[in-house]
Amino acid sequence: MEFPNCTVVDHPLVKHKLTQMRRVETSTASFRALLQEISLLLAYEALRDLKVREEDIQTPMARTMAPVLDGKKLVLVAIMRAGQGILDGMLQLVPSARVGHIGLYRDPETLSPVEYYYRVPGQLADRDVVVCDPMLATGNSAVAALQRLKKSKPGSLRFVCLLACPEGLTNLREHHPDVHVYTAAIDERLDEHGYILPGLGDAGDRLFGTK
Ligand code: URA
Repeated sequence: MEFPNCTVVDHPLVKHKLTQMRRVETSTASFRALLQEISLLLAYEALRDLKVREEDIQTPMARTMAPVLDGKKLVLVAIMRAGQGILDGMLQLVPSARVGHIGLYRDPETLSPVEYYYRVPGQLADRDVVVCDPMLATGNSAVAALQRLKKSKPGSLRFVCLLACPEGLTNLREHHPDVHVYTAAIDERLDEHGYILPGLGDAGDRLFGTK
């Protein structure tokens, strides 16, 4: 299946690290470290089109025009709680980014998102915003988070996840055709509880060691 709204970052390092994360025997510490490492690599790809402008600088040898990032600071928004894992990796690459958090939990019956927390930097207008959540499963949380953020009229919106599946990508494309997704892999499908197969289980539990 083709997903024009999605880029799979299929670098050999990303593939290898993702396989380690999938293994049931991988420890919490390793899972956390691997998620940070992959997120940095995903960010590298997701931010490829950031605008730059030329600045007049002095090297030890000569004056020259050289590119620097242009525009307002980037905003990274983590969907709690597992989005924090992606955020930590992305912040290593873009330490000056502003950070927001959106708290959404899935109602276990309906699988619909329920918002319990929303704190993002003011003045999102004209800023590039990257929403982070490791698992694009049903896509309902991503759709709700993007809807909420669009009220503040950001300059652009992207979505970065570790794993996606056809159901989530289709849902996201139907509701937000303007938002591109960056992921390490597109898995087969969802199970009846809304978990990705073969997946890696509950990303939050694996990241925080809560199970
Ligand atoms: N959330 C997870 O943590 N894992 C899944 O497989 C789906 C949603």
